[in-house]
Amino acid sequence: MIIDEIELTNYRSYTYCRISFDRKMNVILGENGSGKTNLVEAIHYLSLGRSFRTSDDARLIKNNEKEARIKATVSGVGLKKTLEIILTPQGKRVLLNFKPIHRLSELSSVVNVLVFEPRDVLMFDDAPRVRRQFLDITLSKLHPHYLTHITLYEKILKERNELLKQPTVDRQHLAILTEQLVEASFPLMEARSSYLTQINRVLSKVVGLIKGEKFNVDLQYVPYVSLQGDYPRQARLLYEKALEQDVKRKTTTLGIHREDFVVVYDDQAIASFGSQGENRIVALGLKLSPYFLIEEKEKKPIIVLDDVLSELDDQTQHRLLLFLEKLEQVFLTTTHYPNNQHTQFDIQNHIITRRPHHGR
Ligand SMILES: Nc1ncnc2c1ncn2[C@@H]1O[C@H](COP(=O)(O)OP(=O)(O)O)[C@@H](O)[C@H]1O
Ligand SMILES: [Mg+2]
Repeated sequence: MIIDEIELTNYRSYTYCRISFDRKMNVILGENGSGKTNLVEAIHYLSLGRSFRTSDDARLIKNNEKEARIKATVSGVGLKKTLEIILTPQGKRVLLNFKPIHRLSELSSVVNVLVFEPRDVLMFDDAPRVRRQFLDITLSKLHPHYLTHITLYEKILKERNELLKQPTVDRQHLAILTEQLVEASFPLMEARSSYLTQINRVLSKVVGLIKGEKFNVDLQYVPYVSLQGDYPRQARLLYEKALEQDVKRKTTTLGIHREDFVVVYDDQAIASFGSQGENRIVALGLKLSPYFLIEEKEKKPIIVLDDVLSELDDQTQHRLLLFLEKLEQVFLTTTHYPNNQHTQFDIQNHIITRRPHHGR
């Protein structure tokens, strides 16, 4: 899928701006604070109906204005589509071809955007929560069911934790919630596990292309119970064992909300083994891999790299650009760009303009 055109009205630093983009590479150049991430955030908003920087939509409305609009024309499967998002302090409205949509999850089949930002390069140095979030967000976009299940799981977990915080814990109630929690965790574990298996089919290839040499990496899922054999029974046993600990610590110490995955290279965890450069490339490869899991060209996600280039050495930058050139549509923001072959845009005084001598 391709974003042909975007129109921003009172969105963050933009008063009004309408710009058409190209298939393949779109390089957005601008000084720090010029509005590069604001643009990228608007592009991403179209795919998820929420920002990746804030959960408070009111912050997306230009200061002292009443509403913000993001409008886009998108080509993908079938006819061109128009998406319009209207943000007000009271809430948002999302229109697809001028009609309200029922669920935000409908958006990702119209526009799917994968954003890579500088802090993503730290994914393997960070806490497990960061990697879990990556999995949960990716899987929620891929399968609306996942989102339903994780929401249910979180609700039960919250209830169980509240119960554990009571001065005297109602054991019968606890047993019921434990069983619900265990049941709710299975579809999520299976989805996590099978997704990581799929990613592993493409990850080494992607990483190898960016690194410029063969580099075998493997994502290993660390489930709270081994997914071999009769794992529902094993899971219940583990919860029984953890029961007194849960009561003592007044929280659920076991479960998919504590899980992690690691990257291994020749059986060593990358965080402790890989160089910083390798960690960055693997994180980048991991984020780009879903692109290759989607077969149909019209459904391929839009790739966004926000200010990531400067985090990489010259050789890696060069190979990465060659790699990105082959993808359907890419947005790359940067303060400096080493290559003048791609379509380039400048952001100055909150206006985005296409450089006349590039592209088209
Ligand atoms: N709601 C808003 N109204 C007006 N300006 C905003 C709003 N939100 C952010 N900004 C401005 O946007 C600028 C940051 O833009 P950003 O896209 O992060 O820059 P960069 O090009 O470095 O990525 C800051 O100057 C900030 O004040
Ligand atoms: Mg930025």
